Amino acid sequence: MCGIIGAVGLNNIQNILLQSLKSMEYRGYDSAGICIQGEQHLHTRKAKGKLINLEHLLEQSPLTGSLGIGHTRWATHGVPEVRNAHPHQTESIAIVHNGIIENHKQLRESLSAAGATFDSDTDSETIPWLWQQEYTKNNNPEIAFHNTLNQLQGAFAIAGIQANEHKLWFARRGSPLLLAKGEAGVFVASDALAVGTVASHVIYLQEGQWGWSDLEHIHIFNEDGSQAAIQWEPMPEMVAATEKGPYAHYMLKEIHEQPRVFLDILNAYAPDKQHIHFPQAAFIENDPLPSRIIMVACGTSYHAALTARYWLERYLKIPVEVDVASEFRYRDPVIGDNTWFITLSQSGETADTLEALRLFKQQTPQNKTLVFCNVASSSMVRESDGVIELYAGPEIGVASTKAYTAQLLALALFSLKLASNANAMPPEETTKHIQYLFDASQGVESLLNNTPIFDKLTPLFSQSHGALFLGRGPCYPLALEGALKLKEISYLHAEGYPAGEMKHGPIALIDENLPVIVLALRQYHLDKVISNLHEVQARGAKVILITDIPEKEYPTNVDTIIHIPEGDFFSAPLLASIPLQYLAYNVARFKGTDVDQPRNLAKSVTVE
Ligand code: F6R
Repeated sequence: MCGIIGAVGLNNIQNILLQSLKSMEYRGYDSAGICIQGEQHLHTRKAKGKLINLEHLLEQSPLTGSLGIGHTRWATHGVPEVRNAHPHQTESIAIVHNGIIENHKQLRESLSAAGATFDSDTDSETIPWLWQQEYTKNNNPEIAFHNTLNQLQGAFAIAGIQANEHKLWFARRGSPLLLAKGEAGVFVASDALAVGTVASHVIYLQEGQWGWSDLEHIHIFNEDGSQAAIQWEPMPEMVAATEKGPYAHYMLKEIHEQPRVFLDILNAYAPDKQHIHFPQAAFIENDPLPSRIIMVACGTSYHAALTARYWLERYLKIPVEVDVASEFRYRDPVIGDNTWFITLSQSGETADTLEALRLFKQQTPQNKTLVFCNVASSSMVRESDGVIELYAGPEIGVASTKAYTAQLLALALFSLKLASNANAMPPEETTKHIQYLFDASQGVESLLNNTPIFDKLTPLFSQSHGALFLGRGPCYPLALEGALKLKEISYLHAEGYPAGEMKHGPIALIDENLPVIVLALRQYHLDKVISNLHEVQARGAKVILITDIPEKEYPTNVDTIIHIPEGDFFSAPLLASIPLQYLAYNVARFKGTDVDQPRNLAKSVTVE
């Protein structure tokens, strides 16, 4: 959700800024801009639309200088137009901002009354004007910047430069920001991916920290103005992981990475195929089971949590609540003692999930918090008592695929671990389930080696006015996820429904142009799902059946069947996810949409 970069370099930094923005384009792609300090003035270039437009502009009128900032935008305040693109500036101060300034209206009024002239509709444009005002009032630039930050309400990561000082300023409150250094200079960025090729060391800034850097000095301050320690960590290896390789899209690459991701997770948490151990969540091992679990997440991560509820409740016999984060945090949730709070997030920065975690911790600090997360350096990881890392590697495609199945797999292991802690599953049964999870890696590999079977699904969507996905038990959230994937990247309306609920309304949608995707797996109420399938068939729908049952065992007379390898209670959803991902991918390609950067979306939703 907007990517920001700042650089103070040895040489011209225009291309470094552009390259960094390219690596962060997944965070927003409706406009982009950079500003570089010239000999006396700040020079800015901005373009509407994807980054390529800014690149073309810079080819025609390049910028030169060794101090600069850049931004790729996902609009919150103000339509995607050049005037709303960042950087925003006064004559002598320019900033890029990720987040939302909640008191921007009041600031705008008071700043306008004092002579500020605004060019954009954004909340962000108040920042350089406020900074300018403070700078005029204070001779001390640090005090001026700190005073500015103190007047901002809301969430922000900011990078800023001034025309007359060779310093890169930065601040973080509520949105991610890191500091990095390498031979080419010092950088601030929303994501380590942005500086992976130019930096060797990194500092993940803490909430409220701010400061400035030039080539010789780096100063980091805490929110209260006290000096913070500077502790560099080596930059994680990530360059190869962010290249598309032979694949047409990141999404396709990430779908194909799943067998490897499965093995990485299994080898990390259950290497001997018998015992499950989560080294970064010791309380799972040491604490007694809670009397209740609450799981909170958004989007695809929420769907993964919904599947886990079936696994956990069956064995633990304790209530497991699952909520979308934006609802949880505003509904005055009743929490109580002896509750574990679990967040799930690919990015670890999703604003609503992060705030739900903070609310929970504030209300019941005695309870334990656990996060399933793919980004080890993220805010959620830092703020939770325990972490189950997903080891999926950077996910660039906006539609989540490998991080979703990584969550499912890690949740399956977590459920098995707790079932064993609760003496609800004998060790030999645990071993059997773990073996099924290892087998799922091969099962997915075999499905991905035979992708032409998915091609026959696409024509069914050429005339369709939408799609309906049906499943029961853990396949119901899978149906929700299948529908979400399809609508995100093909812009086709799609609904996921519990198959048993279909006749209470959505059956009215069914006609000969509506593809209905039925998930019928041996593990989950097969007979009942097949009855629902017949009800749909009887109304003329175009049925696509995804199943692990041979047709001769269960004749369905469905024309389009995708057979998947058979899984057990825990592994079956992993296998069934693959056709859903491939279906969405193929339909999107058929419709000619932008698979990796679908309209209106961004990868990391750091505003609520
Ligand atoms: C869908 C998708 C989103 C995310 C959601 C939460 O393909 O990617 O629905 O799942 O925005 O993001 P994380 O998991 O980063 O918290």
